[in-house]
Amino acid sequence: MISNPSSKYRPFPPVALPNRQWPNRVLTRAPIWCSVDLRDGNQALAVPMNVSQKLELFDALVRCGFKEIEVGFPSASNTEFEFNRRLIEENRIPDDVTVQVLVQAREDLIERTVESLVGAKRAIIHLYNSTSPAQRRYVFGMEKSDIVKVATRGTQWVKERVSRLAGTDVVFQYSPESFSATEVEFALEVCEAVMDVWQPTTERKMILNLPDTVEVAMPNVYADQIEWFCTHLKNRDRAIISLHTHNDRGTGIAATELGLLAGAERVEGTLFGNGERTGNLDIVTVALNLHMHGIAPGLDFSDLNALIETYERCTGMIVPPRQPYAGELVFTAFSGSHQDAIKKGLASWKTGGVWDVPYLTIDPADIGRHYREVIRVNSQSGKGGVAYLLESEFGIELPKEMQREFGPLANDEVDRLGREVNARELRDIFWKEYIERTQPFALQHFHADGTQGQMRCRATMEKNGERLDLVGEGNGPIAAFVHALQSAGAPKFEVAYYKEHALSSGTEASAIAYIQIKLDEGRARWGAGVDTNIELASIKAVLSALNRAMSKS
Ligand code: KIV
Ligand code: ZN
Repeated sequence: MISNPSSKYRPFPPVALPNRQWPNRVLTRAPIWCSVDLRDGNQALAVPMNVSQKLELFDALVRCGFKEIEVGFPSASNTEFEFNRRLIEENRIPDDVTVQVLVQAREDLIERTVESLVGAKRAIIHLYNSTSPAQRRYVFGMEKSDIVKVATRGTQWVKERVSRLAGTDVVFQYSPESFSATEVEFALEVCEAVMDVWQPTTERKMILNLPDTVEVAMPNVYADQIEWFCTHLKNRDRAIISLHTHNDRGTGIAATELGLLAGAERVEGTLFGNGERTGNLDIVTVALNLHMHGIAPGLDFSDLNALIETYERCTGMIVPPRQPYAGELVFTAFSGSHQDAIKKGLASWKTGGVWDVPYLTIDPADIGRHYREVIRVNSQSGKGGVAYLLESEFGIELPKEMQREFGPLANDEVDRLGREVNARELRDIFWKEYIERTQPFALQHFHADGTQGQMRCRATMEKNGERLDLVGEGNGPIAAFVHALQSAGAPKFEVAYYKEHALSSGTEASAIAYIQIKLDEGRARWGAGVDTNIELASIKAVLSALNRAMSKS
């Protein structure tokens, strides 16, 4: 990188708007949405969608509730033209959905575009030309007045041909491409000249789409540009102001949200932000951002997984794992403290009230997703997360203090593996550490009799390959077993904690027991045992704790 970027790049000039109002506003309703997946999104694919993929995605967009869908660039290729014709001729466009088509300000292209719309019930004809200084200078070699002429002439050509679309409700849309890189005064001049030709009314408004074609400034600058435009436009009530942001600086979503505060009424974008370079605005995120603030977005993403599947199949794109709302890891908590807080938040949510669960911006169930399904443990996960996973997946209810022992052990093991582990692997780590301990003592047989308060036991054990037949006495089976172990030379210890519960139901029902022993020299160790017989589960738990205390690992 060059050490002095100012020798190569320049700062973006701010908009003079000392009285700006947008920072004081809040969003209270959803905008009009227009999906440009089948045009802007499609043109940015390495392999553009074929007609059947476009049809499938069109149907999915309709199911989401989009009422305006830019279906393509019919004059650009036969495939695009044919797609439009199929939608119309096969009656695939619901009555309340308007298809939008893009066209450059060229007479032959406008002609073909109008032709592609014959028979449609409703259509938006979207005309655009570039207005920015760089495009004027390097691409077209035109003065500002020539650019205005391109726009007004194009508008006139569309106007002259609209009568050919008898029976079609036509709305006109104009985009000064690269609006955000254009001087606001000039963008206004072009748009007003276009309005003068089209002659919209308050009843039959036209759409002025103001693209952030390449995101060149911070989102507050785009908002200033939008507010400046809205407040300076004559006949503001005859135009719907539309936003079309891209994501080159990574703030396309913020630019759209601030642009809405600044007075825009309509938003163009794509599912999951597919589009040229860093993509178009991700409409799913903006819609669900409204949803999380209690504003009905007017789009239905209640089965987001199915939509992702359709989108990935049709476009060949992948939704990244950290994509807001849609990414695979969005409802995954890795940190133990997050997991613990989520667990408590979810428990409280079940008792009623508004959603207020830490770390989960919305209820995953709203969009057909699950928190529990995707939780995993890595070396950063705390004891709370580890315990939650064992309990929620396997019904293993570790005592609090045992969690403090097992949490770091699990973390060390995950660290050693160098990757995250799923619930099954975590259970295996627990089993290996506690349940499957047979060194130095392995239990072969245990029997206790007598009355509670006066029990006698016989245990057959193996210690380092040598058979031991032990007897012991105590006020219960555990105490009798401890006594028997001491006679076999085990270190002196006492049982400090005991808990048991059923692990599963049915004929194979097994119980798990947790025991903490305290050795004479002060060390404490936990053990766990599993058996269909509750008494044996606790005996195994004692041996597990002792074996752990006596082993080096
Ligand atoms: O990004 C853009 O400027 C466009 C226009 C054609 C609206 O896609
Ligand atoms: Zn675009």
